[in-house]
Amino acid sequence: MDEIGKRKKDHLDIITTGFAGYEKTAGFERYDFIHDALPEVDYDEISCETRFLNRWFSFPLFISSMTGGHHDATPVNAIIAAFCEQYNLPFGVGSQRIMLGDPSTRKSFSVVRDEAPSAFIASNIGGAQLADGIEKAQVDLLIESIRADAIIVHLNPLQELRQKHGDRRFSGIREGIRSLVQEVQVPVIVKETGAGLSEGVISQLIDCGVAAVDVAGAGGTSWGKVENIRNKSDNRHFTDDWGIPTVDCILASSEAVQSKCELIASGGIRGSEDIAKSLCMGAVIAATAQPVVKAIHNGGYDGLEALFKSWEEDFRTILCLLGCERPTDLDMIHLRRVQSR
Ligand SMILES: Cc1cc2nc3c(=O)[nH]c(=O)nc-3n(C[C@H](O)[C@H](O)[C@H](O)COP(=O)(O)O)c2cc1C
Repeated sequence: MDEIGKRKKDHLDIITTGFAGYEKTAGFERYDFIHDALPEVDYDEISCETRFLNRWFSFPLFISSMTGGHHDATPVNAIIAAFCEQYNLPFGVGSQRIMLGDPSTRKSFSVVRDEAPSAFIASNIGGAQLADGIEKAQVDLLIESIRADAIIVHLNPLQELRQKHGDRRFSGIREGIRSLVQEVQVPVIVKETGAGLSEGVISQLIDCGVAAVDVAGAGGTSWGKVENIRNKSDNRHFTDDWGIPTVDCILASSEAVQSKCELIASGGIRGSEDIAKSLCMGAVIAATAQPVVKAIHNGGYDGLEALFKSWEEDFRTILCLLGCERPTDLDMIHLRRVQSR
């Protein structure tokens, strides 16, 4: 296994077996729902259907980009794909950079289309790979290998700086994103990987013409910490807790986003309360990574299905207790800031 494949396997192992979370929280506990004792809504009439990038999904949850490129990734991607096909949920594969240099890794990605012929699937490439421009043939390969419905560019300067052989050049990424948007036929989504997108960065991305931004804020998986664990360091490093909490990202960006692009809330989404609060704050859909790989690690497909069913039931309960019939009814008026937190 080459260096990138080994790193990807380490990431999966660390996330599924260790604690690689932020000390700071995503910030959802700062808000409480305002209970509606007179909801005037019938529980059985509630619909969780969500429209995102011109497609309807059964529930406002995107399974975040995670893996691919090594042997252990294939069954994980196959399970995520089969699950998303069954429940009509959108998902992304992990960074496809490795398959550009090593064709033997392609199966670990293309398996998703075999398992999910009709699901919404997003490609994934790092912003650093766009800094010098990327050949059209390479972009086509990323997209065609999984017949992708969108392409996600991940921004992860913190993680790169904490990796021994990580990328060190970040200039040129913004123009690389702008070119990509003009070049491809599918929507371009830009995400962080857990340190968050600020309002200023989101404004720049909107100016580049991206279709959606995923804030991927701090409070969930800490990539500073993951790399610290990989470096076998017992010492806390300040980057373990570096980043903008997810709630701050969502609230700061909802004005910049308005109707110009769609907002995905992620980073520390750990249940339906977090999903519902994100939608109240202006996100169209929420996304989650760590709970998905943990559920698969502990229980395979059935584990993931059980997690989803419990989240779906909780989400319906929340909608009902707020007097809402559908996700788009969620609004800031349903939240109250908790002063003491
Ligand atoms: C095992 C694992 C691998 C990941 N690999 C990628 C990746 O290749 N590309 C990417 O954009 N994000 C990747 N991520 C980051 C997630 O998509 C997500 O942004 C981040 O983990 C924060 O979400 P969470 O707190 O729900 O885990 C990965 C996450 C996990 C858990």
